[in-house]
Amino acid sequence: MSLIGTAIELDQVLYRWPGQAEACLDIPALSVAAGERVFLYGPSGSGKSTLLGLLGGVNVAQRGRVSVLGREMRAIGARQRDRLRAAHIGFLFQQFNLFPWLSAIDNVLLPASFSAERKVRATSERPLRDEAARLLTQLDLAPSLWGKSAAELSVGQQQRVAAARALIGRPQIVIADEPTSALDAARQLAFVDLLRRECAAAQATLIFVSHDERLAVHFDRQISLVDVNRAANRAELQGSAS
Ligand SMILES: Nc1ncnc2c1ncn2[C@@H]1O[C@H](COP(=O)(O)OP(=O)(O)OP(=O)(O)O)[C@@H](O)[C@H]1O
Ligand SMILES: [Mg+2]
Repeated sequence: MSLIGTAIELDQVLYRWPGQAEACLDIPALSVAAGERVFLYGPSGSGKSTLLGLLGGVNVAQRGRVSVLGREMRAIGARQRDRLRAAHIGFLFQQFNLFPWLSAIDNVLLPASFSAERKVRATSERPLRDEAARLLTQLDLAPSLWGKSAAELSVGQQQRVAAARALIGRPQIVIADEPTSALDAARQLAFVDLLRRECAAAQATLIFVSHDERLAVHFDRQISLVDVNRAANRAELQGSAS
């Protein structure tokens, strides 16, 4: 895929969860340049994870345009969205979504088995397992833990496995939802540093969600979801009126 100027563009987007009366997202405009590192923040329930779901094509807006790497997410089919996500988006979920029965290293290797393109990139400098080992080492996960099943790891260790899985194969967009919440302060900074370095090396766009505003200074731009999402504003007004 060629380098483009804009990685993500939203135009007049409305998203309502099934069964809900009110929209969760009402975003007139939002755009993120390719290679930009963005810190996205907002109160709990303001729609941060929901927005990330639209960017990853897990959910699709009912109205408006969500463009990711030049693809309009509503115009392309579910299979193409899955393929786009597998090949070009590293997703670091708030709940990690590791396979508990798989070992740490096999969890990291998974994206390469879901996307041939990603496997090619993951093996461009070293064999696949060595690349997984490199990322786990950078994330300070001891080799004695690599063969353990994910379920046997501490929450902070699982979070680092999930990070290595998001980064393997140099995705063009890395989406991280509260990725540092289970890490101690020293590891938080090391983790943010690694994410920034890996994204810079891959010229990837980084969308980093956190409640922890101390981390905001490490990013090119800070986006307040309450500022860009009119539905979050409405929810706040209703909250303060009641
Ligand atoms: N699967 C779902 N089905 C229905 N409603 C949902 C679902 N997921 C989230 N919501 C609703 O959408 C709104 C936004 O939730 P979201 O998870 O996007 O918030 P958030 O900003 O990520 O919050 P947090 O900081 O707590 O993670 C909430 O009101 C929530 O109840
Ligand atoms: Mg969330």
